Amino acid sequence: SAIPAPLPPAGTGWSAESIAKQYIIPCMKYYGICVKDNFLGPQLGNKVLKEVGDLSHNGDFRAGQLVSQRNIPPGSIRGDQITWVDGQTDCKYIGTLMAHIDEVVKYSAANGQLGDCVINGRTKAMVACYPGKGTGYIRHVDNPNGDGRCITCIYYLNKNWDVKKQGGLLQIYPEGKNVVAKIEPLFDRLLIFWSDRRNPHEVKPAYATRYAITVWYFDAKERSEAKEKYRLASGQKGVQVPVTQNGRS
Ligand code: OGA
Ligand code: OGA
Ligand code: MN
Repeated sequence: SAIPAPLPPAGTGWSAESIAKQYIIPCMKYYGICVKDNFLGPQLGNKVLKEVGDLSHNGDFRAGQLVSQRNIPPGSIRGDQITWVDGQTDCKYIGTLMAHIDEVVKYSAANGQLGDCVINGRTKAMVACYPGKGTGYIRHVDNPNGDGRCITCIYYLNKNWDVKKQGGLLQIYPEGKNVVAKIEPLFDRLLIFWSDRRNPHEVKPAYATRYAITVWYFDAKERSEAKEKYRLASGQKGVQVPVTQNGRS
C-alpha cells in the first residue's frame, strides 16, 4: 500500500514535543487549562478557515442543540450551528489540524505526564459556528457523568476579533478556585482543558460570526467503563476514531 506522506509542517519551528513540554503539560498540571497561540501558523490556519467557510456556504451546519426540549425555546441553551468532520474523506486541512492536535496530545499524555489520563481515541471534529445574532452557550460541563471524554481541545478561527464589540468570550470557572478564565476566540489559538466537572464554562453571546473546531480525547479506562455502564448515545460524540499514528494521517 502507499506510503503515507509526512505530516505537513505547521508554523516555523513547530514541534509537538516542545509544545507539549513548554505549554501543555505544565499548564494542565497547574491550571487544568492551556492556551497555545499561533498553533498552526497563518498559512495552514488560513487553509483551515477556508474549509470552514466552504462548509458554512454549502449549508452543512445544523442547530447544535439536538435534544428536543419542549419547554425551552430553541437556541436558548446553545446557539451554535455544527457539523462533524472526519478529516479523512473530507476537509483535508481540518484533518491536518487534527493530526497536529493528536501529536501534541499524545506527547503530553505519554509516560503519565498528564496524571492517570491514558488517551486511546478521540471524536471526529465538531465544527461550530455561532451566527452572530447574540447567541452563546450557557454554562455547562462537557462531560459531567463520565462518558469517557477527558480532554477538550478547541481551535479558534476568528481574525480581528474584538470582544468588546463582538462578545463571544469563553469563560471557564475552574472548580474550587475563585477565578474566571476569559478566553478570546482568536485566529490560530488552541485551547485545551479537562472535559469533566473541573471546568464548567460558557460562551458569552456573540455578535459576529464565530468559528471554532472542537475535538474531545477519550481516556481508555473511563471510556471502557462508560461503554459497560450506559448505552451510549448514538450521536457523533459517541463515535470513537483512532488518534493519528506516528504523526501521519
Ligand atoms: C462546546 C463549547 C466553547 C467555545 O461546544 O461545548 O463549550 O468557545 N464551546 O466555542
Ligand atoms: C452536541 C452533540 C451529537 C451529534 O454537539 O452536543 O451531542 O450527533 N452532538 O451531533
Ligand atoms: Mn463546552
